[in-house]
Parts: sequence; structure tokens; C-alpha cells
Amino acid sequence: MGSERHQRFAGKTALVTGAAQGIGRAVATDFAEEGASVVVSDILGDDIKKLESEIRERGGTVVAIPCDVSSRDQVEKLIEDAVSWVGSVDILVNNAGYLTTGTIEETTDEIIDRTLSVNLNGVLYAIRAVTPLMKRQGYGRIINVASITGKNGDNSTVFAYGATKGAVISLTRSVARQLGPFGITCNAIAPHAVMTKMMEYWDADKKQQIADKIPVRRLGTVEDMSALIRFLSSDESSFITGETVNINGGYYMD
Ligand SMILES: NC(=O)c1ccc[n+]([C@@H]2O[C@H](COP(=O)([O-])OP(=O)(O)OC[C@H]3O[C@@H](n4cnc5c(N)ncnc54)[C@H](O)[C@@H]3O)[C@@H](O)[C@H]2O)c1
Repeated sequence: MGSERHQRFAGKTALVTGAAQGIGRAVATDFAEEGASVVVSDILGDDIKKLESEIRERGGTVVAIPCDVSSRDQVEKLIEDAVSWVGSVDILVNNAGYLTTGTIEETTDEIIDRTLSVNLNGVLYAIRAVTPLMKRQGYGRIINVASITGKNGDNSTVFAYGATKGAVISLTRSVARQLGPFGITCNAIAPHAVMTKMMEYWDADKKQQIADKIPVRRLGTVEDMSALIRFLSSDESSFITGETVNINGGYYMD
């Protein structure tokens, strides 16, 4: 796999959560193209099995491990299983996410619990589980998929969603501070307007309105996200840590 592409991740292992579709699927496939051994994980077990077959058919080294990241036990088992299948976890991409739309009054206890447990607890569990391993290796790259909403809020998604993404931006800095001395970097990305299943609630008019307001005059793609995640996962980014990189065509800048 990837004979024509630079094998930037040869000898490295990468674990991607929420890999069944969208951003996670794109980056997992690209990691394999660039020589990484990849663990694809998602709550959608059948879909990651299919992705596993696709990557394997193209010559990639891959294993699919189903996991609901809101379950501490499942996340700990995921890391254990990843190590037994591919030997280590050099790169962890915390990408799985849960989003619903609605007003503050419409946000039920169940929505609050689910949003926090997937988008925040899942990230905490995974980072805690890989830390001893990455410390022993003296190497690690952790990339958290946050959101523009974690910085700027939002008026159509449930307010719990932005709260979790803001928390991810904060924990990214704590992890960067605490694990930097061990050769481990931790960064986040803050995407906006990437046309995945999660964004199907935007109709054609809304998409056009947003695209018109984006300085580069287009919506985002999973390829845009994959390129940034892989840069932050590479050795070329070893002096960047604790950052949350905006990736939104200039729609929001800080
Ligand atoms: N698309 C955007 O514009 C955008 C903007 C900002 C942030 N994000 C973030 O990007 C990440 C990826 O989202 P996407 O846009 O590719 O959407 P997506 O819906 O295509 O992918 C999300 C994936 O996460 C998985 N997932 C959901 N709950 C899970 C759980 N409990 N355990 C394991 N996997 C679970 C889903 O099955 C799915 O495969 C999310 O964290 C999302 O919040 C996306």
C-alpha cells in the first residue's frame, strides 16, 4: 500500500477512534497509505470491519477493534488489544464524536450525559490508558479532534457539545505540559464546516450561506482534516504541543 506515497509513518502505529466514516475514516486510510500500522476503532463494528478489509486489500497493515469510547472498560481494552495486535500505540487520534442539534431547553439529561461521555470522557479515558505506554516508549503523538464550537460557541448544536470541545482544548494543554518531557506531544484541531454525516443537518441553503462567509469560499473536506492530523502526528511537528489549530478556511481566527 502507498508505494507511490512517502512512507512517512513506516514503523509507526496509529489508533483512530470514530474511524468508520468521515474524518476518522479518511485519516486512518491515509495513515495506512503512508506506512503506519493502523487500528481502526468505532462503535459501528460492521463498518470498521469493512474498512479493515478495504485497507488490507490495498496492502495496508490494519486491525479493526470495535469500541464505544464512552465506556472506560472498552477504551482500556481497546488500548490493550491494540498493543497485542500491532505492538504499540505511537499515535492516538481521539476523533469519535457525538452531536445533536437543539435549544438549551430541548437538551435532555440523556443528551447531556451522552455528549459528555463520548466527547469528553472518551478522550480522557484513552489518553489515560495510553500514557504509561507512551512514557515507556519515550514517544507519542496525541491528536484530539475538538471544534470551532469549543472556542466560539454555536447557536444550533446542543450547548453540551461546545462545552465538551472547550474542555478538550483545555485538557490538550494539560496533557502537553505533563507529557512533553517524555517525548509525547498533544495537540488538537478545531474544524468547522466539514461535509460529513455529522453535518447532514445543514441544508443546501445553509451550506451556501456558510461557504459565502468563508474567506477561501468553500466548505471543508475530510482530506483537509486528514492532512493536518497527519502533520501533527509526524516528526515534523515535534516542536508544536498544546496547540489547537483552527482549520476552517479563515471563517474564525484567534
Ligand atoms: N464535520 C465537522 O464539520 C466537524 C466540525 C468540528 C468538529 N468535528 C468533529 O470531528 C470528529 C469526527 O466527526 P465527523 O465530522 O467525521 O462525523 P461522522 O459522524 O462522520 O463521524 C463520527 C464517528 O464517530 C463515531 N462515534 C460516535 N459515537 C461513538 C462512540 N461512542 N464510540 C466510538 N465511536 C463513536 C461514529 O460512529 C462515526 O463513525 C468529531 O469529534 C466531531 O465532533 C467535526
